[in-house]
Amino acid sequence: MKPVSLIDPKAALRSDRSGWPRHLLSCDGLSIEAVEQLFVAAREMRLVGRRRVKKLPTLRGRTIINVFFENSTRTRVSFELAGKRMGADVINFSASGSSASKGETLGDTARTLDAMNPDLIVVRHGAGGAPWFLAERLSCSVVNAGDGINEHPTQALLDAFTLSEHIGDLNGKRVVIVGDIAHSRVARSNIHLLNTLGAEVICVAPRTMIPAGFTDALPATWHPCLDDLIETADAVMMLRIQRERMKQSLFPQDREYSIRFGMNPERAARLPEHAIIMHPGPINRGVEIDPAVADGRRAVILDQVENGVALRMAIGFLLLGGSGE
Ligand code: CP
Repeated sequence: MKPVSLIDPKAALRSDRSGWPRHLLSCDGLSIEAVEQLFVAAREMRLVGRRRVKKLPTLRGRTIINVFFENSTRTRVSFELAGKRMGADVINFSASGSSASKGETLGDTARTLDAMNPDLIVVRHGAGGAPWFLAERLSCSVVNAGDGINEHPTQALLDAFTLSEHIGDLNGKRVVIVGDIAHSRVARSNIHLLNTLGAEVICVAPRTMIPAGFTDALPATWHPCLDDLIETADAVMMLRIQRERMKQSLFPQDREYSIRFGMNPERAARLPEHAIIMHPGPINRGVEIDPAVADGRRAVILDQVENGVALRMAIGFLLLGGSGE
């Protein structure tokens, strides 16, 4: 695909966005062409983020509302920065302090926001399916910024972008996802997307952290032992244990979990030379990842964060396009 210069807004407006859907709700069903188009745009957007003046006029006059019913640092700040760097007017809405805390339904909140004529609503919600519910009812585009344990497509897209920047074409590469698969929307979105891009995905977790039927429903396999795979992984993605979503503990002690499933310096040293260690954040230092590894040479956690802003700028561009003026 021929790269376009998005820094030149006229070139940006001429570029092809036809492969992109109106909403971004899931990684399931995204085409390789759409993902490649996004990565080309994200590479250009990352250059904008590294300039002294980090601003494009591409979304000038467009309105984005970030609606967060769950806590967030990376996703919310990066969507806000992305919108502002593209010149859009960005409003941040969180459930606490809104009329949702007075009992307003999601449908009524959505209809209220839609009446203000935004161009894009970015939503994070504790209930799986909430972004689809909104997409059916709103006249603007909707982006899923994480719905319950279901999906987190922009995280998976920034992960795949980071992977491809570090280890090249993902076709035939082995990505090992380690940890609390049961509660991970990041794992679900990554499995869909990495499968589309031709990577092999192996989930490593205690049996209690793999839902029944998981590997029948998704294109990934389960393996109970990280040490068996460490020498053949091209990338290892560590996941946080999401205690806030657990009704009961799924393992006896943090220390035992860390010994069996944690990424420590000894395991990191056994990875192939080119292999990288990823984490969507927030990290639990000393549980799923040792601080020396999190801050070490193989970890690309902060690259993921930088790429998250660029990727979300590219998503805004591809969903909304330029102002045409
Ligand atoms: N990775 C991620 O979604 O982080 P936040 O919860 O901080 O947005």
